[in-house]
Amino acid sequence: MKIRYKLAPSILSADFARLGEHVREVAGEADLLHVDVMDGHFVPPISIGPVVVQALRRVTDLPLECHLMVTDPFGQAEQFAEAGGTSVIVHLEAMDDPRRVLKRARELGLGAGIAINPETPVADAYPYLAEVDVLNVMTVHPGWAGQTFLEDMLAKIREARAFADREGLALDISVDGGVNPDTGRRCVDAGANVLGAATAIFGRPDAAAAARALRDLFPNR
Ligand code: DX5
Ligand code: ZN
Repeated sequence: MKIRYKLAPSILSADFARLGEHVREVAGEADLLHVDVMDGHFVPPISIGPVVVQALRRVTDLPLECHLMVTDPFGQAEQFAEAGGTSVIVHLEAMDDPRRVLKRARELGLGAGIAINPETPVADAYPYLAEVDVLNVMTVHPGWAGQTFLEDMLAKIREARAFADREGLALDISVDGGVNPDTGRRCVDAGANVLGAATAIFGRPDAAAAARALRDLFPNR
């Protein structure tokens, strides 16, 4: 199966006072934008919500992937669809009935993915992987940008890719947290095809060049 590699800049480290400008800077190097939504319950911080998605929708045609670090993804997905979000990534740990939430996302016209926290085994997501576009392997504990990549997650990426290959799934495997040119290379080697990064892109003086440095990790570019 041909794997398409994608770069997903996470706006969490962007300058929110000049978000449009910052997004335009990296647009040429990005395949999608990753939007970290935190509700202060699933994770302690409160970050951004649908109004920011709406504002982003006005300045870019890039797909907007809304990473819902919230305790009620079923109830909140609709707001992100209405705001112009393209897809939602929902946490396995936040759902009693993942199928119900995934069905809701599809009904709303959204792409759907599942995220798993560092302590959640990949196997917990196996039953749902045929029904999602992407498995997001958290490579830090969710809640904050700028944390150190958790090396142990490489084994989970390998395991997820092996499962997808075995089952013949066209599954994107994304990594989220602590991704930089060094850790990103190891993620790609382990089988990830979507690199998410906030600090390594928007935390750099030249965000476009930083995004390009991550894209350079992709095979056959
Ligand atoms: C963490 C978020 C990540 C975060 C990544 O809770 O889900 O998407 O923005 O930030 P960096 O790339 O700085 O680790
Ligand atoms: Zn994220």
